[in-house]
Amino acid sequence: MVDELLVKDLDVSVNGIRILDGVSLDINTGEVHVLMGPNGSGKSTLSNTIIGNPKYKVERGKILFNGKDLLKMKPDERVKEGIFMSFQEPVEIPGVSIFNLMRTAYLKSGGSTSELSAFRSRVSSLMSQLGFQESFMNRSVNEGFSGGEKKRFEVLQMMVLKPRMAILDEVDSGLDIDTLKIIGSMVKEASKSMGMLIITHYDRILEYVKPDFVHIMKDGRIVSTGGMEIVSEIKEKGYNYYK
Ligand SMILES: Nc1ncnc2c1ncn2[C@@H]1O[C@H](COP(=O)(O)OP(=O)(O)O)[C@@H](O)[C@H]1O
Ligand SMILES: [Mg+2]
Repeated sequence: MVDELLVKDLDVSVNGIRILDGVSLDINTGEVHVLMGPNGSGKSTLSNTIIGNPKYKVERGKILFNGKDLLKMKPDERVKEGIFMSFQEPVEIPGVSIFNLMRTAYLKSGGSTSELSAFRSRVSSLMSQLGFQESFMNRSVNEGFSGGEKKRFEVLQMMVLKPRMAILDEVDSGLDIDTLKIIGSMVKEASKSMGMLIITHYDRILEYVKPDFVHIMKDGRIVSTGGMEIVSEIKEKGYNYYK
């Protein structure tokens, strides 16, 4: 089945200040879209709005997932529909272990208790592919995680939840080359079976995941869309070139 996330003419404000101005995007299963743009241009605002963070007020436009109005759904209902978002700055949840969080997500999304041990082995195998020790399962979510651990944990959640549409906000920021390689290949694998929006500042992850579309956001608007050639154009000309 092909899933489609359609963002149409979206205006969004935060605390009464207009941040997004007429943003449109159309993402289908198997497509990788990359969103680049200067700091503060509104990239995280877009991802927060898609997932339904209540701080972000939609003034105009629509967000549809397979024709269903996401704006009428609460964040957890959007997650149930199969939308996943990795956080640029993930929150710490002291006292909740990684495995407990995963198990809750699994059961809430319809997983059965009788298959919990198979689920545990799957989590465990994904963890080792992501370079985590088994003992990591018992750590409190994001508490004292290094930057690389946080990003790998975001990717772990995506791999475990198997969403239909994933929005990865700077999942490649601040990674050393080996961690980038692990994350890059996992994200590439995942991108075959879901739609994906990768928000990034660097072209390094694009050595692993080949985008079908590259969009540039500036001052809350998408000012250019194209293929990989846009990435070299940005490198050469900088964001100031785009009006
Ligand atoms: N929760 C928030 N509260 C106040 N201002 C916000 C919030 N989220 C975003 N903004 C503002 O919106 C603008 C765009 O921010 P953001 O979407 O985070 O940009 P980017 O991810 O492209 O760096 C910035 O001016 C930022 O300060
Ligand atoms: Mg951001």
